[in-house]
Amino acid sequence: MRYEFPENFVWGTATAAAQVEGAPFEGGRGPSIWDVFSRIPGSIKHGDVPDVCCDSYHRYETDVEKLKELGVKSYRFSFSWSRIIPNGTGEINQAGIAYYKKLIASLKAAGIMPNATMYHWDLPYALQTMGGFGNREIVKWFIHYAEVLLDNFGEDVDLWVTFNEPIAVYVGHAMGWFAPGLQNEAYARKCLHHLLICHGEAVKLFRKRKLKNARIGIVVDVWKHYPAREGNPADEASVLYNNEIAGYGMFLNPLFLGQYSDVHMKYMKKHDMVPDIWEGDMETICQKLDFYGLNFYNGLFDNADEDTKRNREQTQTGGNYQERPEVHTEMLYDVLHMLVEKYHIDIPIYITENGLAVDEGESLEDTLDDQERIDYMKSVLIPLHRAMQEGIDVRGYYAWSLMDNFEWSAGFDARYGLYYTDYETMERLPKKSALWYAEVIRNHGFEE
Ligand code: NOJ
Repeated sequence: MRYEFPENFVWGTATAAAQVEGAPFEGGRGPSIWDVFSRIPGSIKHGDVPDVCCDSYHRYETDVEKLKELGVKSYRFSFSWSRIIPNGTGEINQAGIAYYKKLIASLKAAGIMPNATMYHWDLPYALQTMGGFGNREIVKWFIHYAEVLLDNFGEDVDLWVTFNEPIAVYVGHAMGWFAPGLQNEAYARKCLHHLLICHGEAVKLFRKRKLKNARIGIVVDVWKHYPAREGNPADEASVLYNNEIAGYGMFLNPLFLGQYSDVHMKYMKKHDMVPDIWEGDMETICQKLDFYGLNFYNGLFDNADEDTKRNREQTQTGGNYQERPEVHTEMLYDVLHMLVEKYHIDIPIYITENGLAVDEGESLEDTLDDQERIDYMKSVLIPLHRAMQEGIDVRGYYAWSLMDNFEWSAGFDARYGLYYTDYETMERLPKKSALWYAEVIRNHGFEE
């Protein structure tokens, strides 16, 4: 069977500033919450710190070479707020602006379309000391930052993403697994409300600019939970909690339906965690977007304890990265239908991330032979193709990631790259999946 994708389908690959750039203390950059959090003993596997990462701050040209080798149509990266405005607010760092100008210019010279995220988890630490997302002033801080970005790069970026995976703010404030490492669920829920307002205000600002070619959207990851035993009350309760109260429902309802869901609200009321919702907030949050970015990695089955009504096994630890749970990528088909049918998403969808961490082999040769990643990617592209055949408007797919990088709390151990990063020499070596992906792009699809 041949899986053929449209000629103009946007094949891409993605990274994020804090995961690849390194150079946190160079070129005038200020510290981010991840620079600080990573130094707290026990917060990151092996005590890894994101000081060098892939050294993309110095080696962006090499990265662009690799993108050319792959033949991708688009590159998804993020701006580092603390590289642009070191203290989060106030003075603008021209060296930071210059870095992204150079990166964007080399992408354009290679005919690669920039897809850039304003916020991919790396809040300037100075803002955290003032309460971070918990302080409603964050809306002003973020809008100032968004203004600087749009002033400098407005027309140069085709696809603008306000926030990547807002859930990271929940993981960092309620669970403590991510920066800033807090464990206060009520505070976390307040932070999320503020984040959503930041998003809405940024979209409004973007509309005022009347840019000709640029479009704006948001990236929300969906890890949909299903009951292991359909109809079992404990499993069903766990699923409801994980989807609606501690998962994608927290974002998709307000963003696309203009309200927090009843079950989410009821939970927050019961636990005295309702954020301060001002008049007009929900309208601000629910802006018409140009596209929706779906980060999809897996579907999960809950096998819940009868008493706690929570999953017996932790299927995801440390936040977002995948610790080899079972692979249920066929669920992408269901997720895409849910987006359209339940959340009425009628704008183009991009799969803004998808990928798999594969452990290092015994030898470099073994590591480069990552058939497992190829199989995984196929298992995602097949249900994607099916949904598209049925008319779901998916315009592109970005592989996470271009190269192995700093996988947050999992440090450098979890290798998601199409390219292997040799952290000694900083060489990027193509894995088998990179060669396979290049073929898929060249042929607009694959046979299986
Ligand atoms: C989601 C995040 O956006 C990205 O930063 C992370 O590395 C990947 N998923 C893999 O966990």
